[in-house]
Amino acid sequence: MSPTESSPRWNLSDLERAAEGAVRPDVWAYIQGGSGDERTLRENVGAFRRRALLPRTLTGAGTLDLGTRFLGTEVAVPFFVAPTAYQREIHPDGEAAVARACAARGVLAAYSTLSSLSLEQIASAAPGGARWFQLYPQADPSVSRSLVERAASAGYSAIVVTVDVPVLGSRDRQSRLGFAMDGPVPIGNGPAVRQPARALDRDGDRYRVPAPGRVNLDFLGDVGSWGGLPVLVKGILRADEARAAVEHGAAGVVVSNHGGRQLDGAAATLDALSVIVDAIGERADVFLDGGVRRGSDIAVALALGATGVGLGRPILWSLALGGEGGVGQYLDLLRSELANTLAQLGCPSVAALDRSFLAERGGSGSE
Ligand code: FNR
Ligand code: LAC
Repeated sequence: MSPTESSPRWNLSDLERAAEGAVRPDVWAYIQGGSGDERTLRENVGAFRRRALLPRTLTGAGTLDLGTRFLGTEVAVPFFVAPTAYQREIHPDGEAAVARACAARGVLAAYSTLSSLSLEQIASAAPGGARWFQLYPQADPSVSRSLVERAASAGYSAIVVTVDVPVLGSRDRQSRLGFAMDGPVPIGNGPAVRQPARALDRDGDRYRVPAPGRVNLDFLGDVGSWGGLPVLVKGILRADEARAAVEHGAAGVVVSNHGGRQLDGAAATLDALSVIVDAIGERADVFLDGGVRRGSDIAVALALGATGVGLGRPILWSLALGGEGGVGQYLDLLRSELANTLAQLGCPSVAALDRSFLAERGGSGSE
């Protein structure tokens, strides 16, 4: 039985297993795969398993508030959909299905430069939905500028600049199964948009990054001035860079290692979070993605100081299984798991989550 059919009893582990049968093997490798030996991919999930929650039991029950603010704007839940490319490879409705499911529930979603629908088509699929546009800096800055201006006119409320793809990671699983990034589904945002650089150029015995200098701190300022929108920097794992990004005008960062698809061996995002929160958390928003699967994971990241968390693969699993309905069911489940977690923690709101609710697994309790 498919988890998206009649049974309300499926959980997220069922979802991942069931999704495998719903797409071609090469598309499954594209969704699931990480880079290299997939150490970082595994660690992203493993880092959540190393944290333990410390419930409060004597504080009495009350109402629960799941709302918070992203970039100063109220949102219904502290999670959002992370940008992922080529969604029509996964389901014929692609990004439109995700947009409708999110808009119906007040969940914010970010859409990739490499979406299979154009950013305008996504906006008109769900005009009331809150959305961010993810920018892959293009070799030609005028192409980046035009994407940012289009996003501003189409009602996107922030630009998420992804900075962790100077070259593509070694996607061994994907390559073995033959998934082609320039496959049959075209990029919706137009022919001028380029795929991420796939290989290092070789110049004699030296390697060259294909587009040197595409991303730097000045570029962040340019992106802000082109669209007049807040800029988030996605792919930060270091406190010094988080600080520098904010000093150059970024409204926040997404602590991310691209879901373990870029540098294999890079730190798990949950392990990198606290120092970044300590460095910029009072001045800027700190989002996290990578390995978030269940409501309790969201509570852990928020207790460590994250403003909100992004979901990558789980959205693609539910899209593969049930299009708009599948994504909607997943979002509903996640929301109710988060509410259940808060109730059991004795914590009335996501705003009240703090480090006192956490212990290192096997560590001592809170003071
Ligand atoms: C991604 N990710 C990504 N990020 C981005 O900035 N632009 C993109 O186009 C894509 N594309 C993409 C495709 C697929 C199939 C995956 C799985 C991921 C990374 C994504 O935004 C996010 O950082 C991770 O997916 C988060 O990790 P989890 O939730 O998948 O563990
Ligand atoms: C990926 C690129 C497209 O992670 O962002 O597959």
